[in-house]
Amino acid sequence: MVAGQDNPDRPPDTGEWMHIYPPPPRSRVITLFHHGAHVRPWLLNYLGPLLEKLVSAHTLVVITDEEVAKPYLPTIIESLQNWNPGARTLSRAIPSGERHKTRDTWAALTDWMLAERCGRDTAVVALGGGVVGDVAGFVAATFMRGVPFVQCPTSLLAMVDASVGGKVGVDTPAGKNLVGAFHQPTAVLVDPTVLRTLPPSHRRAGLAEVLKHGIVADAAYLDQAVAIGPGLVDGTTTEWDGAELVDLIARSIEIKAEVVKQDEREAGIRQILNFGHTIGHAIEAESDYTLLHGDAISTGMVLESTLAERIGIAEPGTSAAVARALAAVGLPTTLPDGMSPDALVERMRADKKARAWRFMLALPRRVGEMATDAGGYGITVDETDLRAVL
Ligand SMILES: NC(=O)c1ccc[n+]([C@@H]2O[C@H](COP(=O)([O-])OP(=O)(O)OC[C@H]3O[C@@H](n4cnc5c(N)ncnc54)[C@H](O)[C@@H]3O)[C@@H](O)[C@H]2O)c1
Ligand SMILES: [Zn+2]
Repeated sequence: MVAGQDNPDRPPDTGEWMHIYPPPPRSRVITLFHHGAHVRPWLLNYLGPLLEKLVSAHTLVVITDEEVAKPYLPTIIESLQNWNPGARTLSRAIPSGERHKTRDTWAALTDWMLAERCGRDTAVVALGGGVVGDVAGFVAATFMRGVPFVQCPTSLLAMVDASVGGKVGVDTPAGKNLVGAFHQPTAVLVDPTVLRTLPPSHRRAGLAEVLKHGIVADAAYLDQAVAIGPGLVDGTTTEWDGAELVDLIARSIEIKAEVVKQDEREAGIRQILNFGHTIGHAIEAESDYTLLHGDAISTGMVLESTLAERIGIAEPGTSAAVARALAAVGLPTTLPDGMSPDALVERMRADKKARAWRFMLALPRRVGEMATDAGGYGITVDETDLRAVL
């Protein structure tokens, strides 16, 4: 397939775009640690020339999943081969879904790379949602004690959250994300146009993290996300290569990056990104992971804001504003029918953030600003108050 022929909107892959990289708002670059996050429509069609500039490796290993491979892998492989003729390009698609984010998948990928005689001069390209990013990143973190990797997130959640911050890893039977590493990518390359094939339920779930970024740090951004959210979810009003979507994703990355840069190892301010997640994780686990993470943390954000108001931390009206924003894009705001408060509290007690009978949560002061207590962002809450909002 020749770039440009299968899609009339798409400019031909002449390589010239590297020099005419369009100015904002149609493309944005956010500085992360020693690397950048590039948000640019149709970027994945130019992965070849981009990687040629960004990494020098003899072998490029593209790790993706079966759902993402179908629409995108052939074009990407072609672009990589055209632009990196001196490099070997290998690719592997794992089955899609959280249940494949395991040590077995990690082992199968690393064994395959060893069988292919990949050496230290290998770079890993993670092409997919958060599952692929986490497991491929963990492969990169551990293969030959660490090789470079590039994140190409294709779900909204992976674009605005999972690909930013350097956390990689796998799940174990004892719990999610319990084995992993910090391994920063060489670059994060975001092509918003691929969201057109992401199922609407996953677009909505990803929006929960987008809205969270607004609630914890930027009230005006929350309004902007609420305005374009419904069209993004149902796919009716969004220009997949438009400036609005570029801005939405870029600002979210920027908010997460600003927080993570101040606190790479999660000792202080990074806790604010856990807003909605203490109760949300309990809801997610109690649903047996039938609820998407974003749907669970949506209700978690509403209940945690209610808690913040109840204990006098948040301005009156905060939880109503949070619930309005989430409901506007179709996210849930109440507990699923039949979910027991006792079971949720038990789950939270087992969570590593609980200390004895008290709980530590990141809570809002108002929309756009999180509360602090003695300079820290973890607010201690009694079990009675927690139970009262469930
Ligand atoms: N490392 C971190 O800091 C961090 C942060 C948040 C979440 N996570 C992890 O991210 C994971 C969740 O990520 P997710 O929601 O992206 O899940 P996912 O990777 O399972 O992707 C969701 C579904 O969408 C499909 N998909 C992805 N992009 C697509 C596209 N463009 N077109 C069509 N289908 C597409 C996938 O195949 C999958 O079926 C969890 O494992 C979570 O622990 C990690
Ligand atoms: Zn989350």
